[in-house]
Formats: sequence, C-alpha cells, structure tokens
Amino acid sequence: MAMQVPKFDGVVIEAADVAVDMLFVPVFQDEGDEPLHAIPGLREASAGWIAQVRASGEFRAKAYEFFIVPVRGSWKAKRVALVGAGLRAELTAERIRLIAASCGYTARLRAVSSAAVLIRGGLDPVSTAAIMADGLSAAEFDSGTYKADQTVEGRYPAELVVVAPGANLAAVRAAVARGRLIGDAANQARALANEPANVLTPREFAARVAAMGTAAGVGVDVLDETRLRELKMGLLLGVAQGSAEPPRLVVLRYEPKGATGGPVIGLVGKGVTFDTGGISIKPAEGMDRMKDDMAGGAAVAAAICAIARLGGPHRVIGVIPMVENMPGGKALRPGDVLTAASGTTVEITNTDAEGRLILADALWYAQQLGATHLLDVATLTGACIVALGKTASGLLGAPDAWVETIRTVAARAGDRVWPLPLYSEYREQLKSEIADLINAASGRGAGTITAAWFLREFVKERPWAHLDIAGTAWSEERKACQPKGATGAAVRTLIDLGMTAGA
Ligand code: BES
Ligand code: MN
Ligand code: ZN
Repeated sequence: MAMQVPKFDGVVIEAADVAVDMLFVPVFQDEGDEPLHAIPGLREASAGWIAQVRASGEFRAKAYEFFIVPVRGSWKAKRVALVGAGLRAELTAERIRLIAASCGYTARLRAVSSAAVLIRGGLDPVSTAAIMADGLSAAEFDSGTYKADQTVEGRYPAELVVVAPGANLAAVRAAVARGRLIGDAANQARALANEPANVLTPREFAARVAAMGTAAGVGVDVLDETRLRELKMGLLLGVAQGSAEPPRLVVLRYEPKGATGGPVIGLVGKGVTFDTGGISIKPAEGMDRMKDDMAGGAAVAAAICAIARLGGPHRVIGVIPMVENMPGGKALRPGDVLTAASGTTVEITNTDAEGRLILADALWYAQQLGATHLLDVATLTGACIVALGKTASGLLGAPDAWVETIRTVAARAGDRVWPLPLYSEYREQLKSEIADLINAASGRGAGTITAAWFLREFVKERPWAHLDIAGTAWSEERKACQPKGATGAAVRTLIDLGMTAGA
C-alpha cells in the first residue's frame, strides 16, 4: 500500500469556517470560560458542553488531555476536540509542539481524514503556526516499521490545517511549510535511531545519510577505513576494530552561494550503530536500547539536510563518525593505548567509553575542514541520565558565551538543555600514568563532565559546545505526544543554530 503524502496548509479564516473532521481547540488550565466563548460560535457549536465539563472537572485542560464534542449548528467541522494546554505561564515552544503532536496522535488513532488546530488569541500566529505544523508532523512517524499490520496505530490524516484567524495568509502558509519541513527532519532522525543495528550497520548508516544529503543538495563525502587510516584516526579505528562491520565517517557540507567569511558551523554527531560496551561489556538489561547510540549522528544528518532545504545563510559542516562497539578477538582491550589523529595518546580504561573516542577524532577533523564554531551531539553518558533524567539534555562547553548561545537557541527551538560546569578540577580525573589521557575517569562521579573534558582536549581555541542526549534521545514510555522510542532530540536546536548561527 503506497503511503499518501499528507497535505499541510495554513488558513486565516475563523474556526467556524474550517471544514475538517476534527478541529482541535487548545484550552489553558487556568483560563475561564470567557476566552473560549469569545471564539465566535464555539458555545453554540458545542451545545454548552465546554462550560459543563470544565465545571464538573471532567475536562481540566491539563496538558495533553482531550475532550471531544460532536458539533451542532453552523460550524463546518464535524467534531471539536478540546485539548488541554496546561498552565498559560508554562507555555513554551516545546509545549506548543507537544500539544500539536498529541493532537496529531489523537487524530491518527481515531483515523480522521482531516484535522485542524486553532491558534488561540494572544500567541504570535506565525511562529506558532510553524511550531504546530512541526508538532503535527511528529504523529506521522511510524514506530512499528516491521509490524505486519500497519493499521494498528491508526491512520494519519490526509489533510492537516493550522488555523490562525485574521493573520497574514502568506506568512502563515510559509510558516506551516517551514514547520512541516522541520518536523519531517526530526522524523527522519527518529526513523534512523529506531532502526535495529543488524539493519543499520555503519556502512548502511553512511549510505542512508549520503542519500539524504544528496537529495537535499548537500555535499557528501564518505570516508572508508582506508581513508580513516590515512588520516590516522586511531581512536575511531580503535573502537571499530572489534566489529566485523567496518567503520565510516560521513562529512556533509552545506555551502550557500555567496557565504564567504562569517562563521562555519561544525556539527558533530556520535554514530555508534550499536554499543555493547566492547570488552567492558554492558549488562544484558536494556542493552537493546543501544541501537540508538547513533541518535546524535542522525540528528546532525537530518538537521543539515533541513538547513539546506530551508536555504540557511551560513556554511555548515557535519561530521558523523560511524562504528559498532563490539567485543571479540580483535577488540580493543582495557589498558591499550591509542593515538588520536591530533597526536594525543589515550589509555583505554574502559572500552564502554567509546563515544568520546570517535567524537575526539571527528571534532579534530571538523576543525581541519574549517569549522569555526563547534557543537557536538551524543548519547554519551549514563551519568547524564542520573543528573538530569529523561527531561533535559546536558550542555557543556567553552567559552561561556558560546554555551549561552546554544542554551538560547535550544530554548527557542524547543529542546530542553541544562548547563553543567567544566571546572578545571574535573580535568584531573583524566590523568593517565602512561599516556596523555585516560578515556574513562574512574569512580569519582561527574561522569558527564569528565566525558566533556575529554572532548575539550581535542578542541583548540574554537568555541565548542557539547549536548549529552543520553536521557532525552529515547522515550522509555509511550506518552500522548510521543510513542516509545526515538524522540528526535536536538534536531531542532541544530537546525536553528545552522539557520541563525545563534544570532
Ligand atoms: N552509549 C553509552 C551512554 C548511554 C548509556 C546512553 C545509557 C544512553 C543510555 C556510552 O557509550 C557509555 O557506555 N558510557 C559509559 C561511560 C563510562 C564507561 C565511563 C557510561 O555512561 O556508563
Ligand atoms: Mn559505551
Ligand atoms: Zn555509547
């Protein structure tokens, strides 16, 4: 069955005139009925249900809560679905997106053919339209790729509409198209991260990223093991040597016409297609999740393609090292010493600290290729889940101004990130007796910070930041706005950074 491409549109007419199967109306937890009754005709169309279910407590308008009312009278929609938007003061770009996503999932599970979401008064119609189109797109994502029955998760609507009464039509339509493109990019990253590791080997990952890049008009360079040896990427090759699958390193180059001088944004993403831990093998419990240890790399690939499609004004270079971390007769051992492409020597104290090894060579290469401002994204440390849980990504880097820039970009893009310090005392934990560094700081806590300090050793003088998405890249539970699995964490931050350079 060929999948139909859903049609996205923005309209600026009144809600009453939107002819769809289901029209979603966001309701804030802390607003009275008055503002809702101010939506022309809604009270009549819903036959007084809205005030009644709010008063009785049946619908409290908590975030992602729904109440569906058949419509009477003159409204053109067949159903009005009230969607809880939570407290007005808590409304962020992320919340708006997730509300729209939950509307998309509700529409999909109920197999409605067309759905619309109303932008309530008081919000900027254009930026909100983009975020809503992004969120609605999330529900199109299929997490059951390998299921025989493709209808169990409902059917995604053929038509999705963002309604911004009285706004500028051209601006709203352009915003919807932009948001749709961003949502698609996040879905692409999610699809890659969900792929099992027997399918998505480093070679297959490289092939898919190359195809994505070519389709988006981005320059693609796939480095094989011969090239990686020529470049002396000893850390990357060291991790790869235990696997039957050869490593790859993919470079994506977006060069808009006329962009000379100015910043060159270097995006680096961890691409471990499966992380067993290597000889320092992980426990069996939850190891299946380690197929997503390339979520950072997927985010970088999807983001650069989106930046190119959006016609970003800055040069962007993506570097994605791809390896599988396996035990075996040829695998790296604890105690081994490797030499990085930069010349730095590393004593391996734990083969499960592999992400920082491949990122170190990739960060070095991004600088060789001319990146002036760096951001890497990685499912790097379990310690980050201890520190920040599944709710926020860890943000580290130097100088502070660049870290602050990334923090601002992430907040407006709708990714939650939170800073952790890089005090020089933490650097002590990386001292080796035999080499320049050890790869895994032992037993003294702050695992996310010492991992970032390791990366910092490979960045010379240039603004660099690091996002640890170990907690945010994967949802362990199914939510109203997100099925179990890959989340697309950091994709939006990377797109915003590429489009604005942080300005
Ligand atoms: N890929 C893991 C980090 C991870 C753990 C991501 C759990 C998502 C969920 C990483 O390669 C790793 O194994 N890190 C080690 C580092 C340690 C050996 C210093 C960790 O966090 O335990
Ligand atoms: Mn590991
Ligand atoms: Zn890993």
